[in-house]
Amino acid sequence: MNENLHQLRCFGCGDRISGSDARPDFRCAQCGDLFEVEYAGWSLRQGTNRPNPGALKWLWRERRCSSEILDQSGVWRFRELLPILENYGNAVTLREGNTPLYALTRAARALGMDQVFAKHQGMNPTGSFKDTGMTAALSVARERGFEWVACASTGNTSAAMAAYAARAGLRSLVLIPEGKIAWGKLAQAMDYGAITCQLKTDFDGCVKVLAEIVRKESIYLLNSVNPYRLEGQKTPAFEIAEALDWNVPDHLIVPGGNLANSSALGKGFREMRELGMVARMPRISVVQAQGANPLVRSFAKTHGRELEPVEAHTRASAIRIGNPASWRKAARVIQDTDGWCFDVSETEIAIAKAELGAEGLGCEPASAVTLAGLKKLRAEGKIADSDSVVLLLTGHTLKDADYTIDFHRGTLLKDDELAGHEREVDALRRNAFAVDANPDAVLSVMRGERQ
Ligand code: F0G
Repeated sequence: MNENLHQLRCFGCGDRISGSDARPDFRCAQCGDLFEVEYAGWSLRQGTNRPNPGALKWLWRERRCSSEILDQSGVWRFRELLPILENYGNAVTLREGNTPLYALTRAARALGMDQVFAKHQGMNPTGSFKDTGMTAALSVARERGFEWVACASTGNTSAAMAAYAARAGLRSLVLIPEGKIAWGKLAQAMDYGAITCQLKTDFDGCVKVLAEIVRKESIYLLNSVNPYRLEGQKTPAFEIAEALDWNVPDHLIVPGGNLANSSALGKGFREMRELGMVARMPRISVVQAQGANPLVRSFAKTHGRELEPVEAHTRASAIRIGNPASWRKAARVIQDTDGWCFDVSETEIAIAKAELGAEGLGCEPASAVTLAGLKKLRAEGKIADSDSVVLLLTGHTLKDADYTIDFHRGTLLKDDELAGHEREVDALRRNAFAVDANPDAVLSVMRGERQ
């Protein structure tokens, strides 16, 4: 770890410590809050360690044509803004990042807007945004000589951790809630050789068990309480700005689960603004599922000052989290950027997911809360026709194929969830037909003669 260039600053009490002094659970010894990586040399306008924005913009683009392994990573290509490693030879990369920013033309048309984009983080090596954070934090684990890494997960973190640990030759331990994660993700953890324990509890219960384990054994914790994860997860902000010619969208809409990603992206935009790379911040909004909405409740009751954990229920299993670790960080980003925090129903999620699929951009249910959220904000008149919006799609559609198949077969939504939405859902459903093995039967399906 490069201790000369960074330190950890407690988000709660402001205490500063060096990276190697962090406790195994990454909680502040003074107040119990979480840390953020801070680069002291950047704050001085005339400081010698302050990166040169113009030169970096050129260099980062230039690296996209480079055959150097590190340059091919959409995280380490921006390494000047995450100088956390002592030796870049320790970086563990699967060429993550460099994900596409797609124009959502049909959604934009339907909403009467012309600038709606999807930053598809599902196009990462293990199919979710977690890869960008994992390359950063797992590289720190390797540099610090850990043999074991571990995480509690709703599935994607475990898939990413297992893959990066395997590349680095480290052992990995995964704790997941039994029967509550999508098969695609469980399959990945197994495939990449993690030791996977399915605990008879929910995600929040897995987090508690793991916190005790890392206090007992020398295991490097890779949940998003690990501040180095967020250094990687801030880089999509750089990519979004770069793709828009260093303009910032008016709005960024992010799903909220454990609530680290929204704050990581906020940090990315904030640092770019502080360094003079962009002129302003986007408004960052967090969307939760109605049955897993502790931050929404916190805003409604206490303006984001206190959070009461809830028992979480949603089919969007990635964000089935009732006691999110990084809620204070997310609340700050929403407040600082004048964003919104609100929830969407299971029906709204299912419809939005099918609409994204119909644009050729499938995603997992947790990602679809962003489009459902944009529709809500438009209906409430909070977003103007001319505003530019980026939706952060966090996971690949194949992560949770069961959900998609159930939707199209008509077995996902219950009658009360469907009520009032039957036509919308019917128009989106594309069930598979069981057809006799002859051309006429297939052609009759094509002509719409079979329902
Ligand atoms: N979308 C997907 C696909 C996720 O997997 C997660 C979180 C989120 C959104 C929410 O991001 O937690 O930073 O607010 N998944 C974690 C996991 C918790 O274990 O894979 P967040």
